[in-house]
Amino acid sequence: MDDRRWSAVDAYLTSALVKPDGALEAATIANAAAGLPPIDVSAPQGKLLYLLARIAGARRALEIGTLGGYSTICIARALPADGRMVTLEANRKHADVARVNIARAGLGDMVEVRAGAALDSLPKIEAEGLGPFDFVFIDADKGNNANYLAWALRLSRPGTVIVVDNVVRSGAIVEPANADRDAFGVRRMFDMMGREPRLTATAIQTVGAKGWDGFALAVVE
Ligand SMILES: C[S@@+](CC[C@H](N)C(=O)[O-])C[C@H]1O[C@@H](n2cnc3c(N)ncnc32)[C@H](O)[C@@H]1O
Repeated sequence: MDDRRWSAVDAYLTSALVKPDGALEAATIANAAAGLPPIDVSAPQGKLLYLLARIAGARRALEIGTLGGYSTICIARALPADGRMVTLEANRKHADVARVNIARAGLGDMVEVRAGAALDSLPKIEAEGLGPFDFVFIDADKGNNANYLAWALRLSRPGTVIVVDNVVRSGAIVEPANADRDAFGVRRMFDMMGREPRLTATAIQTVGAKGWDGFALAVVE
């Protein structure tokens, strides 16, 4: 199996199961036009996030790492009409592009894009009483994954679903000599996730158009 076949299978699964989506396609085009890196989730992965949030019956969602709002749109669509989502993005340009994409998807009233480093925004979110969140998606700077997991727990309730993206990194997480700060950050997050008695967790590897990677999934007890 090589990357080209992974991409071909992704294309097939997308055509079989993921309906063409004007808002997501427009977001992808707008992100590229604005020079954002193509590091958002793939179409089948976005549908997975939608399904997980929907299965969880989420009303309030938190995302750490917005980019252009592709995953934000997928998650927000799983919320009820009176649901609420906050998504955190350090890069102002990314946040501006995301706001336009989210508004075009008809989700501007439901979703707040908060610009600034997530570790600065999270204490404010707690102080404002915006939690507890029913669904948390962590997909920002991987070196801070353990800090984000700690915040996700702090802003959770029993039953909250936590999803962390990019937890395999082409296998880099099992190379102990790997100086990659991101892989190190993912391992710290896994150490915490495995030890934390309030979390029941697993992780799955994925291949596809975005290469070899994976998601960690946890539920708060
Ligand atoms: C992988 S991208 C997010 C992709 C997005 N979740 C999607 O699938 O459409 C990671 C994003 O996290 C942002 N980011 C990096 N460090 C951050 C931080 N400290 N706080 C908040 N966002 C950060 C980056 O600017 C980037 O836009």
